[in-house]
Amino acid sequence: MRAPKQIPWRVRPGILGIEPYEGGKSKIKGRSDVIKLSSNEGALGASPKAMAAFRDAGRKLDRYPEGSAFALREAIGKRFGLDPALITCGAGSDELLGLAGRAFAGPGDEVIYTEHGFLIYPIIARSVGAKPVKAPENHLTADVDAILERVTRRTKLVYIANPNNPTGTYLPADQMRRLRRGLPRAVVLVVDAAYAEFVTARDYEPGIALVDAARRSGADNVIMTRTFSKVFGLGGLRLGWAYAPQSVTDLFNRIRMPFNVSAAAQAAGIAALADRAHTKRAVAHNARWRHWLTNRLMDAGLVVHPSVANFVTVEFPAKGKHTMAAADKFLNNRGIIVRQVGKYGLPHCLRITIGRAHETRAVADALEAFMSR
Ligand SMILES: Cc1ncc(COP(=O)(O)O)c(C=O)c1O
Repeated sequence: MRAPKQIPWRVRPGILGIEPYEGGKSKIKGRSDVIKLSSNEGALGASPKAMAAFRDAGRKLDRYPEGSAFALREAIGKRFGLDPALITCGAGSDELLGLAGRAFAGPGDEVIYTEHGFLIYPIIARSVGAKPVKAPENHLTADVDAILERVTRRTKLVYIANPNNPTGTYLPADQMRRLRRGLPRAVVLVVDAAYAEFVTARDYEPGIALVDAARRSGADNVIMTRTFSKVFGLGGLRLGWAYAPQSVTDLFNRIRMPFNVSAAAQAAGIAALADRAHTKRAVAHNARWRHWLTNRLMDAGLVVHPSVANFVTVEFPAKGKHTMAAADKFLNNRGIIVRQVGKYGLPHCLRITIGRAHETRAVADALEAFMSR
């Protein structure tokens, strides 16, 4: 990282230790016909009904949005069987993850996340002056015991992505229950379920039952976050939500900005939820092509980590002519952009989003050609 410029004001401790988050690359120099499989955006895009609602919202741009996102919270509540009073909406689930950091952690506190966990968690920890603490994983999967062993009197928050990005692995419901039960009441568990809709495994639970268990016990120490950016294909609108106990929801409503979700995002979110057929198609498409791509790449001699999300993480040999860097370059030359994940502690891997059928075929053909060179 560049050395910070000498400036007359003092920055909060920790801020300059943050390495800015880098999103997926979206351009290849000199090419306009790229296949972008680097940001886990939904393969089928947004529902046409959500797009129509967005266009309609364009006729009322002078109006502030309804600040509590009331109708959207009602729609989410109805869809997932939740009390809308326990839902907070935000500008992407990123915002809600950040609100949890601001509400519960500060200087001198510790925030646990997992070895290959989503990079936003240590960024949030540092941005509030807390210390990020990395818990090792086991076979690229979060390890409940390793997390619990790292809890100290300073621990305020545990962030866990379930399923995780970029590994695509998940913890089954019984492991998540064990994690919650093992945490002291003073530690808040944030279950980031951004990819929940894609999971078809029967032993998976996105976090709703955990929030409810925390409410029943009176500890109020679990938050689940969800997003409209993945299966609903609304990443460009920035829309996410959290389900949390009343006491936590009250805190979020104190610290979030009053109009944090635009009117267009609220309208499109409601329409996206109503278009169940579109979501169903997106889930089925993903399951089918994830399986197909995994098999094709394994047949080509690659290690593909089993994923329950809308991407797969592929491991390349550390040496020789089939390295990750060589593969990435080969793909770029064919106009395909995938994601390097070295910053997640996976220097020999590439993460490939499940795209449309022709895109998935193109990346499989390219990697097959690469491996047979
Ligand atoms: C694990 C995880 N959590 C949260 C997010 C943030 O999603 P958004 O802010 O678009 O809701 C992402 C996006 O890549 C993610 O991979």
